[in-house]
This record gives sequence, C-alpha cells and structure tokens, in this order.
Amino acid sequence: MKSNMTPAGMAKLEVNGKTVELPIMKGVDGPDVIDVRTLYKQAGVFTLDPGFTSTASCESQITFIDGEQGRLLHRGYPIDQLAENSGFLEVAYLLLYGHLPTQSEFTDFDKKITMHTMLHTQIDSFFSGFRRDSHPMAMLAGTVAALSAFYPDAMDIHDAEQRELAIHRMIAKMPTLAARVYKYSIGQPFVEPDNNLSYAENFLRMCFSVPAERYAPNPVLTRAMDRIFILHADHEQNASTSTVRLAGSSGAHPYASISAGVASLWGPSHGGANEAALNMLREIGSADRVGEYVQKAKDPSDSFRLMGFGHRVYKNYDPRAKVMQETANEVLDELNIKDPILDVAKALEKIALEDEYFVERKLYPNVDFYSGVILNAIGFPTTMFTVLFAVARTIGWLSQLNESIEDPAARIGRPRQLYTGAGQRDFVAVRDRVSQS
Ligand code: CMC
Repeated sequence: MKSNMTPAGMAKLEVNGKTVELPIMKGVDGPDVIDVRTLYKQAGVFTLDPGFTSTASCESQITFIDGEQGRLLHRGYPIDQLAENSGFLEVAYLLLYGHLPTQSEFTDFDKKITMHTMLHTQIDSFFSGFRRDSHPMAMLAGTVAALSAFYPDAMDIHDAEQRELAIHRMIAKMPTLAARVYKYSIGQPFVEPDNNLSYAENFLRMCFSVPAERYAPNPVLTRAMDRIFILHADHEQNASTSTVRLAGSSGAHPYASISAGVASLWGPSHGGANEAALNMLREIGSADRVGEYVQKAKDPSDSFRLMGFGHRVYKNYDPRAKVMQETANEVLDELNIKDPILDVAKALEKIALEDEYFVERKLYPNVDFYSGVILNAIGFPTTMFTVLFAVARTIGWLSQLNESIEDPAARIGRPRQLYTGAGQRDFVAVRDRVSQS
C-alpha cells in the first residue's frame, strides 16, 4: 500500500518544559492526525487513550465513516448506493481490490470464490465434538480457527499469491461453515453448497433446505440477505477489525486472525448487539411499554441500555439503519407477517429520537436495531444473528488484514501502558507474610 498521507503542518507540545514538534498529517477526508510516533523518543512520554477514542491505529484506504453526518463510504462509494445497486460479491471485490469490477473481472472473481465453497470432510467431525446447545459463535470461532490446520500453505502471509488464495477460500467457506453451525444446532443434516446459486441464495439454501423437500429460493429474502451482508461488510477500525489487524501483525495464520475477529465480534457492545436488540424488543413486547424502557435506559443507577442504539463513531442516524428499516418492511410484506416487534421498534425509535437524553448524547438507531426483525422473519434464531454478521464482516476483516500486511509502515501492534500497580518490592517468604485482605 502506497501512503496517501500529506503533511499539513506541525503541532507543538510542551512536555516537562521541553517543546516537542510533531507532524500533522492530512488524509483524504475526516480529521487530520498528529503523528506521535516519535513522541517517546523526543520526550520520554506515552499518550493515554483507553478505548482509542482519539487514536488512529493505522492509515487505511478502504472505508470512511463521517460520524457527524452519518456517511459511510466503501472505497469512496456511499453505502446506500452500494446496497441499492450492487451485490455482496461485487462489494467484496471492491473492498478487496479498491475498484468496482468490470464484467469480466467480476465473472473471474465469482468463479474463484465459488470453486472453494466446499469444506474438507474432516471439518465436519469437529462439529460432533460440540454440545448441540453450544452458542453458534463459539462453534464458529472454533471451526474458523480449525481451518488454519487444513491450509498450512497459507502460513507465509508475505507471499501475495498464497494470501490471495487464502482470502478467496475464506470468503467462500464462511457461509458453508456458518450454515453447518446452524444445522448442527438444530440437529438437521448438513447441506452441501450449490455453486449455481448466488452467494446469498446458496447460504439460505444451506441453512433452510432439507433433503426430504424441494427448496425454492425466494428472491425478496435472497435480496434482503444479500443487503444485510453488504451493510455489514466493513466498518473501518472497529473492535473486531482492530483485533484481526493486531493478531495478524504478529504474522499469525490468516484464519487464526479471522477467528480472533469472530471472538471479538461476539460481545453485546459489538456484533452481539443484534441478538440483544431483538431480545430487548421481545421483552418490551408492546408499543405501550416503550416509555418504561426508555426511562430505564436513562436512569444512571440502572445499567440497562437500549440495544441497537448509540455508536462510538455515528453521532447521527446510522446510514445502514435506514436501509435496514426499508428492508424490514419489504421482508415482512413479502412474508405477509404482521410482527408486533416491528411496531415496538418503530415506537421506541420515535420516542428515543424526541427524548432530550438521547438527543443530547446524539444516540440514534444503529445497524443492529432493525436487522434482528428481518433475520427473525427469514427464520433465523437470535443466537445465529451474530454469525451472519461474521459471514459478512469476514470480507472487511480480510481486506483490512491484507492492507495491513502490505503496509510498509506496519509493525507488530504493541500498545504501551501507564503502570499504577505496586512499586518494586522484595520477595517475602510465606512464613513471614501478613494477610493483605
Ligand atoms: N442506551 C442508553 N444510553 C446510552 C446508550 C444506549 N444504547 N449508548 C450510550 N448511552 C449513553 C451512556 O450511558 C453515556 O451517558 P453519560 O454521558 O450520561 O454517561 C453516553 O451515552 C455515552 O456513552 P458511551 O458508553 O461513552 O459511548 P461509547 O462510544 O463508549 O459506546 C456503544 C458506544 C455502541 C458501545 C454504546 O452506545 C452502546 O452500548 N450501545 C448499545 C449496544 C449496541 O447497540 N452496540 C452496537 C454498535 S453498532 C454495531 C457494531 O459496531 O458492532
């Protein structure tokens, strides 16, 4: 990756009476950064930024978020245009290679992905080791890590050809693994991929078809699934992507790094929020109880939060939530479902958007607020929601991992700390120790 940063002046910092000069760098869009790489060398101090609220961990050319305006761009293209006009594999190509593919580039890419959709038969034996009631994310993290044992040839991450093959394999196999996770959890036989179908169609078939019956794909549901994949494909340096970059920075096998991303995504503050959001909407149950839950969310002595609300970066409506709401309406119409949960969601959104607490803190619905309603209507249990997020985000993780490996400025990720524990002291023999509790 060739750097696109340009110098934009110098920042001056007084540290213990000494003036330190640090370069200010400009990107293409978004705030400038102060390059603090030489700070420790110049002044012997670190910066402290738990949660990375003011820290750019890398230069990246893949995704840009303007949180104040609610804009999300992949390689410069707005997410709503991609969701409207594109398909998931086309967006995958865009994220990975930096431009929209020509017809022949796309045909070639599509072929390369579909030829890797099957799994080694030994992978299936891993599943029988899991309890049937294991959380699907636990099975996914385990089996994705296990894939690295099947492809030792991907170990040399600095070989661009090996890396590309490993990326194609991972994009292709992720839906097959995720569908197996679901089938295993409900005790149905695994369904092999059908390479004549599109990415989303194939995935839905592997999840919902059974050998005893004919399966007819529904185009509205296929389109909704494809859109959900597009909307979750990448989101710059979020927790799971940063985890993948950090794991990969040590030179780990790419599938081991992706497995670390799956683990990080699982938490309710990140990818697990879609599961938590639907559970919350179910718990609320009807639109007349919404006020009570809004009060709970505002109460500082109550740890309850509105799941699917708020975002570290977006201080405006999450552009993905808008597309998600439209898709929810389309899917429920197609299936002729009158889901009271959608009414609860809309009532909750309306009240929260007018409430001073939420307005002041710029808390808006995020991508997870409506996705659960759609996935529930398609037929997925809540525990599978984050798995679907992981299938989509795999392309973001792989693109970002690839970029980090190609970045000449990349070094092993090794944050520093401010130590506030015990000062140096001498060892005390057990007979002489005094209880500390
Ligand atoms: N409900 C009620 N209050 C909230 C919420 C919420 N969902 N989110 C933030 N706040 C309040 C928070 O209590 C704090 O108030 P105060 O200033 O009075 O202490 C203020 O808003 C700022 O919150 P914060 O925790 O400092 O913000 P953060 O940037 O660290 O957290 C977040 C971002 C997404 C973890 C948080 O908004 C949250 O927990 N939301 C619910 C979980 C969720 O929907 N997560 C999905 C994120 S989008 C998908 C993804 O990226 O994976």
